[in-house]
Amino acid sequence: MDWGLANRLAQLIQADGRCMFLPIDHGYFQGPTRKLEQPRKTIEPLMPDADALLITRGVLRSCVDPAKSKPIILRVSGGTSMVGKDLANEGLTTSMEEAIRLNVSAVGISIFVGTDYEKDSLLNLAKLVDEGEKYGIPVMAVTAVGKELEKRDARYLALCSRIAAELGARVVKTYWCENFEKVVQGCPVPVVMAGGPQVDTEREVFDFVYDGLQKGAIGVNLGRNIWQNEHPVAMMKAIRALIHDNATPQQAQDIFERVKGEKWAVKA
Ligand code: 5RP
Repeated sequence: MDWGLANRLAQLIQADGRCMFLPIDHGYFQGPTRKLEQPRKTIEPLMPDADALLITRGVLRSCVDPAKSKPIILRVSGGTSMVGKDLANEGLTTSMEEAIRLNVSAVGISIFVGTDYEKDSLLNLAKLVDEGEKYGIPVMAVTAVGKELEKRDARYLALCSRIAAELGARVVKTYWCENFEKVVQGCPVPVVMAGGPQVDTEREVFDFVYDGLQKGAIGVNLGRNIWQNEHPVAMMKAIRALIHDNATPQQAQDIFERVKGEKWAVKA
């Protein structure tokens, strides 16, 4: 692996082999979604505990201080919206030149396996990998399910993750699911877990993150279950402990309760 690519991956995946990415890219198809209406306000208290941000160029330029940033994974696919015809019909929204100008550590693109736009999204991924590898910029593939959340099972996610890796993604972001080991074992590159819509309790999040880590995921790219929680800083610190301190779900819960009770803790 060339030095530039290795260096960028090392900015994202920490010395312990783990990572905690914070995605705040949802606005690119959801608009000003709940608790991300003012991205700067959402991000600032969470930034110290994030290893990297997944973000679009618009929000990066307008809401992140370049002097106080974290490594950036630039969201480079889009062109659809929640109210449009088909969320799967994404294209590439910017160039590798722009990614270099923004000094990013990686670029992120969604693939939509099993949809009418499967081939387009997979060929976009392949094209992006060709461009990225030219300049030493790793590509993170996101196995997207659009509105069809029920697609999140091991058979489907293992298929998507493997295809993403075969086409050259250096990291794959997918959903946690039952039998998650099947997803990780079938994917020859590191796997990080997304969260999906907010679940009912914090403990559910700690349990699935813990389970996924035990089964080989290297970390998370978790958004709504952190920043839509009433205590986002407490969530961030609890999940960080699972990832980087090998905490158990109960220890994460204890951290959550302790931090949320601290006077200075930011409440969303
Ligand atoms: C949006 C994304 C998000 O980055 C991804 O879904 C992770 O966020 P969440 O944990 O909220 O699902 O790719 O397109």
